[in-house]
This record gives sequence, C-alpha cells and structure tokens, in this order.
Amino acid sequence: MHDDMRTAIEAQVGHEFGAAHVYLSMSGFFDGQNLPGFAQWMRAQSEEEIEHAMKLFDFLVDRGVAPELPAIPKPPHTFASPVEAFAAAFEHECGVTRQIHALYEIALEHKDYSAQMMLQWFITEQLEEEKLTGGLLERLKMVEGSRSALLILDAELGARQGGEHPA
Ligand code: FEO
Repeated sequence: MHDDMRTAIEAQVGHEFGAAHVYLSMSGFFDGQNLPGFAQWMRAQSEEEIEHAMKLFDFLVDRGVAPELPAIPKPPHTFASPVEAFAAAFEHECGVTRQIHALYEIALEHKDYSAQMMLQWFITEQLEEEKLTGGLLERLKMVEGSRSALLILDAELGARQGGEHPA
C-alpha cells in the first residue's frame, strides 16, 4: 500500500474514534439534561463510530500494516442546548464526509482498488449519517421551546440500539 494511503487511513481511524468520543460526551450531556432517549441515541452513535474505526483498522491489518494510531482530541463537554449539540453533530458528520472523500481521492490517485471498494461503503454510510443527524437537527429546531414535544422526541430516540440506524 502506498504510504499516503496508509497514513491517511490511520488518520481516519483516529477521526472515527474521535467521533465516538464526541458522541459519548454528548450522551453524557443529554443524560445530565434528563433526556435519556437522546443519551441512548448518542451512545448507540458512539458505538457505531467505534465500528467504523475498526473497519478501517482491520482493512490496514488485512493489508499487512501494523497501524500507527494518532491521539484522540478531547471532545466538547457542554452544549447550550440540544439544538446546539445536534448542530455540532451534523457539522461533525459533514466534516467526516469531506475526510472520506479526500481518502477516496488518494485511493484513486494511487489506483488502490481495494481501498476504493472499502471506501465506497463509507461514502454510502456518510450519506446516511448526514441525513440522520441533519434530520434530527431540523426536528429539534421545530420543537424548540416546547418541553413536552422534546420529551416525545426523547421517547422516540430512546428506542435506538447500538448498530441500528432509526431516526
Ligand atoms: Fe463514522 Fe459518523 O462517521
């Protein structure tokens, strides 16, 4: 594997673990706000990010690379409101999409066909991730100011289990 490809995928492993860290932090924030459904949704999202990181890690290992992992930045800890937390989550996902697209460019440049195949899964996944977080952000904006509507949404989100992708 070309060095550029390897180092870019290693960096992405860090970004995915970083995302898991961000969502776990958000889960704690929502628990502190007495919104256990949002907390559960964020916890499931965090678990999903760990799966993404491991998919990239395993790809490197399967290609004979001993991955050199980066440090994970400290995530944000408090948010002004649920809307602000989901706005941050949506922005985060848009950033990940750009990272995945940049990885794909490297795979194209170096004619790394197996990396292209692996990354196509992530390109599709990012469509879903943006739709999911962006959709919830818009719904949260709709219920802003209504505690009862927020609690209904909280109950709905609490149904999410790790690895699932419901709204
Ligand atoms: Fe793994 Fe949510 O991007």
